Amino acid sequence: MPTRRELRSVVATEAVGPYTLLRVQRGGLDPGRPGQFFMLEATGRLLPRPMSLCLAPPGELAFLIDPIGPGTQALCRLERGEALGVLGPLGNGFDLDVRGPLLVGGGIGIAPLPYLSEALGAPPALLGFRTARHAESAALVPNAEVVVEPTYVTEAMPLDHDVLACGPEPMLGAIRRLAPGAQLAWEAPMACGYGACYGCAVEIGGELKRLCVDGPVLSAA
Ligand SMILES: Cc1cc2nc3c(=O)[nH]c(=O)nc-3n(C[C@H](O)[C@H](O)[C@H](O)COP(=O)(O)OP(=O)(O)OC[C@H]3O[C@@H](n4cnc5c(N)ncnc54)[C@H](O)[C@@H]3O)c2cc1C
Ligand code: FES
Repeated sequence: MPTRRELRSVVATEAVGPYTLLRVQRGGLDPGRPGQFFMLEATGRLLPRPMSLCLAPPGELAFLIDPIGPGTQALCRLERGEALGVLGPLGNGFDLDVRGPLLVGGGIGIAPLPYLSEALGAPPALLGFRTARHAESAALVPNAEVVVEPTYVTEAMPLDHDVLACGPEPMLGAIRRLAPGAQLAWEAPMACGYGACYGCAVEIGGELKRLCVDGPVLSAA
């Protein structure tokens, strides 16, 4: 799957609860495999930011963004017709060869699940959110059961499925203990996205792994 960097135009931005769905012209970019990511660079920003592909409508790539800091806020402020740098697809996505998939997402961790759901034929999903407003984004994932804190996804998660999950680190840690066969999409701050800077290195099993090339999707085991 070829990785390319292109300057693309914004098609539209849409509010989804507290998040923004940024829709970008696809151009010659390959959408890649669900769970892979792209480095998005708003014009004038020093560093790009990693974003999972959320949806791949014809001719577009769409990203669901939580505006938590300057980089993500700059991306959410982009307007129709404005340009941004898009590099990808990057990293390892989910293995789609699963028999009884259950998609599990927490908060903005639902971002890769709409595209994953499409690839797997809308399997059941279990999504957890901090508030009802955050839970509005569950509309992007078909066939989803939603829990809102103080209930956690791990309390509602059946254990007889092949779990494919993305969400905050404590949630992934809890899923890892309950479902050792799960595929988990992890996050770390990333500067380059393609293995050159070691900014995303994490220790796994006593070895340093660069999450951008060895992950972001890793087996729980
Ligand atoms: C592979 C991958 C896919 C991602 N996909 C999405 C996505 O689809 N949608 C989305 O909204 N976000 C996603 N993220 C997270 C997103 O990249 C960060 O929120 C963003 O880089 C923050 O940039 P900022 O300049 O807005 O905030 P910053 O000022 O850089 O950060 C704000 C705060 O968040 C912390 N932080 C920043 N990045 C991360 C990170 N990656 N992991 C943990 N803490 C972090 C910082 O330490 C700081 O406390 C993804 C991250 C990775 C690695
Ligand atoms: S982000 Fe540079 S090595 Fe992973």
